[in-house]
Amino acid sequence: MNLKGKTALITGAGRGIGKTIAVKLAESGSDIAVADMNPVSDDVLSEIEKNGSKCLTFQVDVTDVESVDSMVKQIIDAVGGIHILVNNAGITQDNLFMRMKPEQWSQVIDVNLNGVFHVTKAVIRTMVKQHSGKIINISSVVGFSGNPGQVNYSSTKSALLGFTKSLSREVGTRGITVNAVAPGFINTAMTQALNESQQEAILNQIPLGRMGEAEDIANAVAFLASDEASYITGTVLHVNGGMY
Ligand code: NAI
Repeated sequence: MNLKGKTALITGAGRGIGKTIAVKLAESGSDIAVADMNPVSDDVLSEIEKNGSKCLTFQVDVTDVESVDSMVKQIIDAVGGIHILVNNAGITQDNLFMRMKPEQWSQVIDVNLNGVFHVTKAVIRTMVKQHSGKIINISSVVGFSGNPGQVNYSSTKSALLGFTKSLSREVGTRGITVNAVAPGFINTAMTQALNESQQEAILNQIPLGRMGEAEDIANAVAFLASDEASYITGTVLHVNGGMY
């Protein structure tokens, strides 16, 4: 994949899957803008920049419209455009539905769904002007299969399918593709927080017999961000070891 001359904005890229996506896109030649609600560490920055890509970092909460708009303006002022947007920032607030508090519902909707709206809204105009853009939304296998304890989270992840499909139909003629990647269970802080028996139950459902690695997701994103995927839009790439 050759992404030379492109700039990619990745949300929630301070760690985990987002960080690995940022490193992969940088290795493919793209300049990078990292947005994360927590400060981005120097280690992450130097890993992204190790092959010569430029990296801008922003401490931004994707639910904060003003900060998102100001970040996008700063990126465009600095590098002239945004060619790739990866909506990766996401949270869980798991609880069985009967016990789920309204805040657990609304916080997850706010980050995982409203955040995608705010960031995409801020970026889309520049993509339309450029007549090119790749938007990649990070969904989840549980948005398709469902998962007990995750009514809030899985609702946001299946909503991203409607978002992806509808937006792809609106902006296709503007040279913009919109796709989703639906990871299965990936070895990150989010899944390390599960207890041993939960992890074992998950492994039993995965035909490939292992959890995915963040690189498995980054490779799929790099493909969808590349010219090689230019005739693919409105679709979901499932990266889950065969579990769904
Ligand atoms: P993580 O918790 O390791 O990293 C998420 C990052 O997003 C963190 O750096 C965090 O600071 C940032 N973030 C959270 N809320 C934010 C906000 N409001 N504004 C800006 N940044 C914010 O999570 P992980 O595992 O890397 O997940 C990344 C994405 O992949 C999420 O959308 C998640 O739902 C999705 N996913 C993860 C799976 C897994 O097994 N880990 C499976 C399927 C999907």
